Amino acid sequence: MCGIVGYIGTREAFPVLLNGLKKLEYRGYDSAGVALLNGSLEVFKKAGKVSDLERFAGTQNISGDTGIGHTRWATHGEPSDKNAHPHLSANRIFSVVHNGIIENYARLKTDLEKHKFSFRSETDTEVLANLMEYFYMQSDEVTAEMAVQLALSKVVGAYGIAVLCSREKDKLIVARKGSPLVVGLGKNEYFVASDASPIAEFTSHVVYLNDYDMAVLQKNNFTLKNIENKPVSVTISNLDMQIGELDKNGFEHFMLKEIFEQPQTIEDTFKGRLKPEYSDIVLGGLHHVFPRIAKAGRIVIIGCGTSWHAALIAEYLLEDFAQIPVEVEYASEFRYRKPLLNKNDVVILISQSGETADTLAALRLAREKGALVLGICNVVGSTLSRETEAGVYTHAGVEIGVASTKAFTAQVTVLTLFTLKLAKTRGTISDEEYSLLVKELAEIPKKGRAILENNEKIRQVAEKYKDAVNALYLGRGTLFPVAMEGALKLKEISYIHAEGYAAGEMKHGPIALVDDNLPVVVVAPQDAWYEKIISNIQEVKARKGNVIAIVTEGDTGLKELTDDVIEIPRSHPALAPLLAVIPLQLLAYHIAVLRGCNVDQPRNLAKSVTVE
Ligand code: F6R
Repeated sequence: MCGIVGYIGTREAFPVLLNGLKKLEYRGYDSAGVALLNGSLEVFKKAGKVSDLERFAGTQNISGDTGIGHTRWATHGEPSDKNAHPHLSANRIFSVVHNGIIENYARLKTDLEKHKFSFRSETDTEVLANLMEYFYMQSDEVTAEMAVQLALSKVVGAYGIAVLCSREKDKLIVARKGSPLVVGLGKNEYFVASDASPIAEFTSHVVYLNDYDMAVLQKNNFTLKNIENKPVSVTISNLDMQIGELDKNGFEHFMLKEIFEQPQTIEDTFKGRLKPEYSDIVLGGLHHVFPRIAKAGRIVIIGCGTSWHAALIAEYLLEDFAQIPVEVEYASEFRYRKPLLNKNDVVILISQSGETADTLAALRLAREKGALVLGICNVVGSTLSRETEAGVYTHAGVEIGVASTKAFTAQVTVLTLFTLKLAKTRGTISDEEYSLLVKELAEIPKKGRAILENNEKIRQVAEKYKDAVNALYLGRGTLFPVAMEGALKLKEISYIHAEGYAAGEMKHGPIALVDDNLPVVVVAPQDAWYEKIISNIQEVKARKGNVIAIVTEGDTGLKELTDDVIEIPRSHPALAPLLAVIPLQLLAYHIAVLRGCNVDQPRNLAKSVTVE
């Protein structure tokens, strides 16, 4: 949610910043801008995409070896040139880019107005820039660094900021509370970004800032302290990111590339975790806490959006195989109710980005209450991975498409491994079933590839339904969350209203929607609920709804009964979510493309939701 970049060094800053903003554009894309220091402090910003900024800046003098940049997802004030970042203070002394929300900005703004500050935008960030200027002007003794610290001491809310001061041109100041920031360490140069992707091509040495950290960067000096001016020890991490991960590799969109990567990313996620002959599952990150997990009274799994859907699948798996009570919660609800937790509970936070504000707040609450707090996360070094007691990384690689695909299947893979290991440790699964499941898991990538071969067929189905206004998705058991995930994919990238429902619930309301205009996507493989779901399909057909069924390969019966079928290979029911979701992702993708939507950057969304 908003991307920040910064550079100080010996290169021209603008190309570095622009390149970085393009990589961070998935975090927000309604306006973009840069501030550059050369003789003076100059700001170039525009409503629209980074490419609009690039066109505009091409006509300006954009030289300078120090700069900051921003790509925005609007919180305060509509997307416009004036609300775009960077924001300048009244007398152009400070320029600030900000990711987060200053909750008490209205009060701060009123106070500043009393001191004759006027404002050009409706943003909370401009208030912060003016607050810095206010403190800076109080005395000659106040340095830019002190002004930033004083301003931040007055702020309630979340921030990742990068700041330039026109009177101290040799510095770039950054600070964080709640919103991620990474500093890349080069030779006589430093790079700043909201995540490591813009930095990877320049250096593999990075420092992830923690909450309340502040770094002062000069061409050949890096100082880390906290916002109360106390020194902080520096931990340098090594980046392990392939530059190729950030390209589309010939695919039309990142989302399509990421859908097609799934056989590999699922394999990457379990490979190395299955011992020879599948005799055991190794989850190294949980090793030291596993005895405590095995004795837990209850597991609570928390996430948002797609990650929450993965959690729901795990609820079925864990209760079935490991026979342990599980509750699944939206992070945004959990954090504001008064959850009953104790030290016998295990809380698992699931997040692709590891930076989702609600999930991090839930994490901190669970920790406060003494639960064992674990993470399942895709981004190495993210806040979630650093604040949980133990965890497991998904190995999905960088996910750029705003609609999550490969991260979801990687999460479900980790949750499946976790379930099997826990069931084995607790003695709640037979050796035969354990071996069968692990062997079948190893077969999933091959089966996933077979589904991807149906891509063109799925595109043809999409042609038929691209003009739908509403859609209903139905499933049972672990395929109910998959139905919800399919509906979420469709609505977020094609803007068609879609709902995912437990098939048995249809008769309690949604059936009223069914007519000959309503596509109903039914996830209906031949499993224990097959007969029941056939009845649900018949209920839809009796009301002239159009049924698109996801069926087991060779199921001719459902071909007769439905309007369109998409086949998936037969699998153990516990593993079916990993396969059934793939055609739903492709269906949503093709419908969105056929409707002319920007699938990688759907309107109003951002990849990493770092505000609540
Ligand atoms: C939907 C999607 C979102 C995210 C949600 C949580 O396609 O991507 O619903 O799943 O914002 O994000 P993470 O997993 O990064 O916490």
